[in-house]
Amino acid sequence: MGQAQQKRIVLGLTGGIAAYKAAELTRLLVKQGMEVQVAMTEAACHFITPATMQALSGRPVLVNQWDAADNGMAHIDASRAADAIVIAPATADFIAKLAHGLADDLLSTLCLARDCPLLVAPAMNRQMWENAATQRNIRQLVADGVTLLGPASGMQACGEEGMGRMLEPAELAHDVLTFFQPKPLSGVKVLLTAGPTYEAIDAVRGITNRSSGKMGYAIAQAALELGAQVTLVSGPTALARPQGVQVVDVTSAAEMFAAVQQHAADADIFIGVAAVADYRVAQPSEQKIKKSADKLTLELIHNPDILAYVANLPKPPFCVGFAAESENLREHAAQKRRAKKLPLLAANLAQQAIGADENELVLFDDAGEHVLPRADKLTLARALLQHMIKLFQKG
Ligand code: C5P
Repeated sequence: MGQAQQKRIVLGLTGGIAAYKAAELTRLLVKQGMEVQVAMTEAACHFITPATMQALSGRPVLVNQWDAADNGMAHIDASRAADAIVIAPATADFIAKLAHGLADDLLSTLCLARDCPLLVAPAMNRQMWENAATQRNIRQLVADGVTLLGPASGMQACGEEGMGRMLEPAELAHDVLTFFQPKPLSGVKVLLTAGPTYEAIDAVRGITNRSSGKMGYAIAQAALELGAQVTLVSGPTALARPQGVQVVDVTSAAEMFAAVQQHAADADIFIGVAAVADYRVAQPSEQKIKKSADKLTLELIHNPDILAYVANLPKPPFCVGFAAESENLREHAAQKRRAKKLPLLAANLAQQAIGADENELVLFDDAGEHVLPRADKLTLARALLQHMIKLFQKG
């Protein structure tokens, strides 16, 4: 990704243990060509010193609202000069202040006095994050046009594990840079399927597969970054919903098909990432089947091919398919692309891809094959969409 020349960022630190990560974030933003003006709350200074932040940003840090040296106008001057304000880490307390428009210290005043975008990276204990008040405040910030960066789920400083952990500095630096990139999918409606489907056998049992949904969710995230309006029809997964994506939860292939039929006419791009069960049980039992018989035969019938349906609509959106193959990847994928009449198909080896965090893709289009080398699924998703955009814009 290119340099973000001359972008001026006010990086606001509030008082959480993740403040130590802001040092590395500053270094990365400066390395990407940004001018970083650090502003810290008093609480943040208990976690990391202004001297550290000054050394890394190359500028004196703004802390005190009542500093006579700047004529008391630091809050106006700093926000006037900025292309964006980034709060990392943003505590639950600071988020509450932002949601209510409070301005009782330099950083909150600077946020209220801004006329530039505000990006907020929450960092807190999982219970503070899940608290109804925090969730209400977060919804308010999103409604006010604030961009949320994370949080992520994982190990927390308190020893607990869960949602609320601040994104890593490299992820934040990438997100900030992406924020300033052109948005080639702005105004474009992307419809996606992701995850497995679950086909009931009886009241408690079913047929499913090991798809985690990670690839589809990563593509939803990448499309959002490019400015798309994203609708994600998701089978059952354990993944956090990407903020800003409209998620339609489904269980069976039939439900997924119905949801796609409902949204397809409106979509400019359709990406079928879901591992849709090819068959379902002809007559699922409403009650739990007893194990009395020696032998049990299930009759399976074909599920509709959702992708083929969309690709064959009278005015189809631009369709992208996935193929998970266990052998002869290239032959099967190329054949599948022709059979389903897709301009683009991404193929991977099922045994490497399913459930994993990393993958490797081979893209097939009219021009031939393009290998996307092994990487985490979000990096692959971004590369896949860059390739797709070129074809989409041509067509
Ligand atoms: O033919 P195959 O199942 O391998 O094709 C995989 C592609 O088709 C994926 O993009 C998948 O999401 C889509 N598909 C679908 N509906 C099905 C089966 C597959 O949309 N019933």
